Amino acid sequence: MENRIEKVMETIILDAEKSENIKLCADIMKSGGVIAFPTETVYGLGADALDKDAVSGIFTIKGRPEDNPLIVHVASSDDVKPLVASIPDIFEPLIKKFWPGPLTLIMKKSSMIPDNVTAGLDTVAIRMPEHPAALALIQTFGGPVAAPSANPSGKPSPTKAAHVLSDIGGKVPYILDGGDCKVGLESTVLDISGKTPKILRPGCVTYDELKNVLGTIEIAGITDTSGKMDIIKTKETPKSPGMKYRHYAPKAPLTVVIGAPKKTAKYITDHLSETVAALMFTDYALEHPNVIPLGNSNDYEAQASFLFEALRTADNMEVSSIYTQLPKEDGLGVAIANRLKKAAGKNIVDLSDLH
Ligand code: TXA
Ligand code: MG
Repeated sequence: MENRIEKVMETIILDAEKSENIKLCADIMKSGGVIAFPTETVYGLGADALDKDAVSGIFTIKGRPEDNPLIVHVASSDDVKPLVASIPDIFEPLIKKFWPGPLTLIMKKSSMIPDNVTAGLDTVAIRMPEHPAALALIQTFGGPVAAPSANPSGKPSPTKAAHVLSDIGGKVPYILDGGDCKVGLESTVLDISGKTPKILRPGCVTYDELKNVLGTIEIAGITDTSGKMDIIKTKETPKSPGMKYRHYAPKAPLTVVIGAPKKTAKYITDHLSETVAALMFTDYALEHPNVIPLGNSNDYEAQASFLFEALRTADNMEVSSIYTQLPKEDGLGVAIANRLKKAAGKNIVDLSDLH
């Protein structure tokens, strides 16, 4: 008798610029399937946001804890109304400035959204991405698309189609390849469901940019080290469930070294060896096989776009520990430092008070 071999799904990478490929992926979502697609921040794992079984497929593929809700992606701000219980006053000024783009807004949900999308919360996260392939996909699909980042839970987010293939190849039929993600960091998550808007996850849209539009903002679960931001610090635990999980961590333990780049570069250089790797700012990086450049010390955009690739490179090295420099925590530096600190857990060396 012939042996029955379980078939592993073949994953095909499709050019996101071709409309027939967009249609193919939209059709998969219409039939309850899951596909991967590019956004300007990171690649996402998309399914019909109004189909609870399709959404449950996303959780299975990612190995995502059920208490961590997903972001719902729309192609137009007009598509938000049916998804929420009410539209807060500050919604309009925010989307006028930041949509399409890397800002996710949390609002009270309507009954249209299945409970597993929001992990049982009474709020829903919604964003309109800027990447033309993401917009074309959502438009062609014709409804809201639930999508987390396309990495297995706990790993760095994918910023190239090749990352998605190595992460979840065999688990989705198609990956739409829209090139390298421009931003490289996930969206800023802003809760506007309560009285005062609150940043739940720092991202490309910065505190200062939001403050210019909103006036007062709270910030959850983030340490203000710059001392210059007039942040109302909240004592509450962060409301964004995803922020409590260990994330982005490479196999070998990562240590962030905080302080002026000259000092941290010296510290890291003293610790480098054949079995120790380091993420270093390009303007301080040594010529050493275990040094992974992270962009110039004052170029936050470059650091954001290299960050996850650098963590993946470090993860593929046979080393026993990894050190990283940390950007100054202002502007986009807040989000980059947030991801690096999450990847490091408790491993922090603080040289900032040393003269
Ligand atoms: O840039 C991005 O946001 C990417 C692309 C694909 O759009 N998506 C992304 O999704 O990063 P994900 O699932 O990896 O992160 C979503 C974050 C999590 O921290 C989750 O806990 C939070 O948003 N979130 C989602 N819904 C929420 C809600 N109702 N209340 C609070 N936090 C929520
Ligand atoms: Mg994620």
